[in-house]
Amino acid sequence: MEYATLNNGVRIPFLGFGVFQVENPAECEQCVSEAIATGYRLIDTAAVYLNEEAVGRAVKKSGVPRKDFFITTKVWIKDMGYEQTKSAFERSLARLNMDYLDIYLIHMPFGDVFGAWKAMEELYHEGRIRAIGVCNFHIPHLADLIVHHEIVPVINQVETHLFHQQKAMKDYADRTGIKIEAWSPFAEGQHDFFRNEVLTALAGKYNKTVAQVELRWLTQRGIIVIPKSVHKNRIEENFNSLDFRLSDEDMELLAACDTGKPVVGDFDDPDFVYDLCTRKYDF
Ligand SMILES: NC(=O)c1ccc[n+]([C@@H]2O[C@H](COP(=O)([O-])OP(=O)(O)OC[C@H]3O[C@@H](n4cnc5c(N)ncnc54)[C@H](OP(=O)(O)O)[C@@H]3O)[C@@H](O)[C@H]2O)c1
Repeated sequence: MEYATLNNGVRIPFLGFGVFQVENPAECEQCVSEAIATGYRLIDTAAVYLNEEAVGRAVKKSGVPRKDFFITTKVWIKDMGYEQTKSAFERSLARLNMDYLDIYLIHMPFGDVFGAWKAMEELYHEGRIRAIGVCNFHIPHLADLIVHHEIVPVINQVETHLFHQQKAMKDYADRTGIKIEAWSPFAEGQHDFFRNEVLTALAGKYNKTVAQVELRWLTQRGIIVIPKSVHKNRIEENFNSLDFRLSDEDMELLAACDTGKPVVGDFDDPDFVYDLCTRKYDF
């Protein structure tokens, strides 16, 4: 496994396993167990994914020491704010059946972000979280957070893939010591992702699959990836993506495929944001 070093010195695997949209508890426990058996140690869940319990069970049953894992979960919009985030953190930890978190992320840049961050800074100083970060922040959100707080987020987890490469965000993150973590590294398969011509040609050239070329390209850019699959063969395929390197020329070919636009979640669309902020959840 290759590791990135976060701005607080903590090391994180470049490749992890995401469990968004795996709400069936048995299916989630099964695929996380398969991921752990394959070698994944970074698991990415969230309170709003409704599967923290299943993740916790798979981790516990694996017999792998807790210290070898890198467990990430996230605080949802309804729990933003100082008191709410402290309470949401305790509930997530209880569902995971763990006594500390490796990373806690603000899931969306909405609601009382500053109150939530203050709570997370305290939990970090108390040793209950090894690192704190954010998701879906635009550059001005990050700049605002950094100027007004003591701790710079270790990670900004954002939609990043062939079609939406986040070049400006990556430059800003590099300057400020933040790592980019790519969510939906396969664009959830949209826009015929797995039959993309450039990826397919490179897959042939390197004797790899489209998924493996995409994950190698992202990690070679210094971006952490958390692909999701509920299929054992794909879980293994995705894991085996770090044993080759793309040439500079091929990295450039892929860089030229950027459309600069999101495919999965458009945070500039007020209807999308309104929907996110008003969904009702009971967790
Ligand atoms: N912070 C955020 O706001 C946010 C938002 C979205 C996602 N995330 C995180 O990022 C993780 C990954 O993103 P994602 O789940 O949205 O999408 P993704 O990883 O881009 O794509 C998952 C899709 O690709 C398929 N797939 C996976 N590996 C494949 C392979 N080797 N060959 C062909 N198809 C393959 C999966 O199908 P099968 O499962 O059927 O194999 C699934 O349909 C999430 O699970 C979550 O942890 C975070």
